Amino acid sequence: MARDGLIDALPKAELHIHIEGSLEPSMMLELAARNAVDLPYTSSDEVLAAYRFTRLQDFLDLYYRGMSVLRTRADFRDLALAYLRRAAADRVEHVEIFFDPQGHVPRGVGFAEVLDGLTDALAIAERDLGVTGYLIMCFLRHLDEDDAERTLDLALAHKDRIIGVGLDSSELGHPPAKFKNVFRRARDEGFRTVAHAGEEGPSSYVWEAIDLLGVERIDHGNRALEDSELVRRIAMDKLPLTVCPLSNLRLCVVEDLARHPIRQMLEAGLMVTVNSDDPAYFGGYVSENFHALDAALKLSDDEVTVLARNGFTASFLGQEAKAEALGRFDQALADL
Ligand code: HPA
Ligand code: ZN
Repeated sequence: MARDGLIDALPKAELHIHIEGSLEPSMMLELAARNAVDLPYTSSDEVLAAYRFTRLQDFLDLYYRGMSVLRTRADFRDLALAYLRRAAADRVEHVEIFFDPQGHVPRGVGFAEVLDGLTDALAIAERDLGVTGYLIMCFLRHLDEDDAERTLDLALAHKDRIIGVGLDSSELGHPPAKFKNVFRRARDEGFRTVAHAGEEGPSSYVWEAIDLLGVERIDHGNRALEDSELVRRIAMDKLPLTVCPLSNLRLCVVEDLARHPIRQMLEAGLMVTVNSDDPAYFGGYVSENFHALDAALKLSDDEVTVLARNGFTASFLGQEAKAEALGRFDQALADL
């Protein structure tokens, strides 16, 4: 086990968090009442009791239903602020937050309402909590590429507030190749790029994300380990993986945290980070993900330190801000 207090004391960066997946049951019920949205739940316990998943799609069905309570700029601000406060309590200093406009715009919620609410929260967090944050707009891969293209069109007017694009939702049957053109255009427009790959989908989807989408990070990437040539490529390119242990457990990507492949990933020389994915659905924020891994795998102090430090290295912070963040990290470690 890592030494007592190490996980909690280290500065952290979180790079794989879906803001809609940070919607806690209590806020879901509150917003449902505020916005007169019908939900099949009457208490937080009932909401939590429904969270039994055997695969990604089981979760996604409830995730899209849950996000239907989010309607106004204030809702998105409150949602993101609650997450940012909780993250700050875990000593998270920098976050790169996913959001899913295609989960909102078709319900009649304006793209600008979503974005304004999220940027309101980020401004408050920077001022009051000292947490910096970027936004990454994800395309829903179960929809077609034209829909993603229209979503990218909406984002172009707000380029200054969206650092990158990603790819999420139902992976199986929706390979990265389906989004080749929209990712090329996003890159040409100056967006950074990431994609979920190798969570449920095969290692070939990870190859496609790298070779066809040109991504700078892989979200999850667990199944990359099935292909040793791919592992060498990811290591050589220093392509970060944003790993989400409690998500992997709850979605049955791993049978047991004791069998989580994060140590093999580190041993293969991969730039691995630890993240919460959808903390309100999977039972833990970023520190809880570290603690659960540590309890199952008995992480060394070095492993914990490398995993936490990688969060900053793998971030989209500019060169100067990244060097400063890493300097603060190293100082915090030396002060322990
Ligand atoms: N995988 C794919 N899509 C998602 C996830 C995930 O873990 N969380 C929210 N959307
Ligand atoms: Zn995810």
